Amino acid sequence: MSSTPQKIAIVGAGNVGQALSKGWQKAGHQLALVARDAQSPKTQTALALLGDVPVLTLSEATQWANIILISVPADAVNMLADDLKGYEGIVIDATNSIRPRTDGYETAWHYLDATLALSKLIKCFNTTGAENMANPVYHGTGTTMLLAGHDEEAKAVVTQLALDLGFGECLDLGGVVQPR
Ligand SMILES: NC(=O)c1ccc[n+]([C@@H]2O[C@H](COP(=O)([O-])OP(=O)(O)OC[C@H]3O[C@@H](n4cnc5c(N)ncnc54)[C@H](OP(=O)(O)O)[C@@H]3O)[C@@H](O)[C@H]2O)c1
Repeated sequence: MSSTPQKIAIVGAGNVGQALSKGWQKAGHQLALVARDAQSPKTQTALALLGDVPVLTLSEATQWANIILISVPADAVNMLADDLKGYEGIVIDATNSIRPRTDGYETAWHYLDATLALSKLIKCFNTTGAENMANPVYHGTGTTMLLAGHDEEAKAVVTQLALDLGFGECLDLGGVVQPR
């Protein structure tokens, strides 16, 4: 355990959600899943990987978690808006908007930043494949993760979460997220 234990809710239990949740669980953090269908094959696979973790609604997760990871397709992010609006914990946006867009915004991050009044919105865990999030170490060296966002304290917490997974460093690209 290398960092303060966090309560992390994972929204979207596919490739990215599974890799990150398993790594964070191993590092000692508390996990919960948010699923549109608790019986979906991806959610069931995640539950098999993680063991006895709760499946919450997003509304419940905003009460329980101090960190919410978004790992759904970018064009599904607007479906999270009602429950996420005004959430005061850290929201990590791991989506990519190469094809799917969110309500005409350049990326899901731009949509979240412009519309939901999230004070601690951080872009991270979107710049490499899920297999590298599951194991970021090559030839004994942790690879590099990148983040961006406005809140310095939240960036420090997310940086530690990247190090907890085995990344060697997490470089801060500043406050502006470039499209994609
Ligand atoms: N795959 C990668 O290597 C990678 C790397 C970096 C970033 N990303 C980005 O990360 C995101 C997730 O990618 P992925 O490969 O993990 O996707 P994935 O394997 O297809 O999993 C997506 C998950 O999101 C869930 N979901 C979809 N719509 C939802 C909604 N409205 N509410 C709640 N959950 C919903 C799905 O639920 P069901 O289980 O019900 O289908 C599924 O569990 C994408 O934005 C992608 O661009 C992916």
